[in-house]
Amino acid sequence: SLRIAVLASGRGSNLRAILDAIADGRLDAQVVGVFSDKPAAAALEMVDAGRRWAMDARALGDRAAFDAAMGDAVAASAPDWIVCAGYMRILGPAFVARFRGRLINIHPSLLPRHRGLHTHARALQAGDAEHGASVHFVIPELDAGTVIAQVRLPVRQDDTPDTLAERLLPLEHRLLCAVLALAAHAALSEQDGTVLLDGQAVFKPLLL
Ligand code: GAR
Repeated sequence: SLRIAVLASGRGSNLRAILDAIADGRLDAQVVGVFSDKPAAAALEMVDAGRRWAMDARALGDRAAFDAAMGDAVAASAPDWIVCAGYMRILGPAFVARFRGRLINIHPSLLPRHRGLHTHARALQAGDAEHGASVHFVIPELDAGTVIAQVRLPVRQDDTPDTLAERLLPLEHRLLCAVLALAAHAALSEQDGTVLLDGQAVFKPLLL
């Protein structure tokens, strides 16, 4: 079964969705560790103490030192895939290089639209008719790696950033679990911006 390390900074609803999918037998995987830059993150409480790692990033000061410490802990859990699920700290180039190709992120927008923060507000401001979420490979450039799969939803006239976020969240959970289920059953990789499944090119991101 797929060994998954999860990086999370906050409430952990995406981690919860992964754990539920595993418990229900929808995902042949195990969460081998939860790693956080926020020692108080609710996500940490979702696994037993032996699978938790957290360090206040401010304690180390230096991004490279924090990334190296977390990277050692992640590597020690021997994961097949490393999933950023609400991990809100930028990963430095050395961390990305160490795990590149098996490091993915869920981002709450239809990439390449709205990289970075405040995606729901920015989708509304831009007058987007559709919004959504993307799972993508992580590269050093923020939210710019190859997109594996996306979900879409129509924006309503009376939407606010909060209502959009709330309608999107359950779709995010399905999206992330679907990508991990795919990774559990096929060789999922990337080459020159194209996703490969068992070595075959998928020319567009999968739309769930
Ligand atoms: C999710 O909406 C995720 O897409 C977003 O943070 C939320 C975390 O929720 N991620 C980012 O914005 C990454 N830049 P969760 O802690 O309940 O999984």
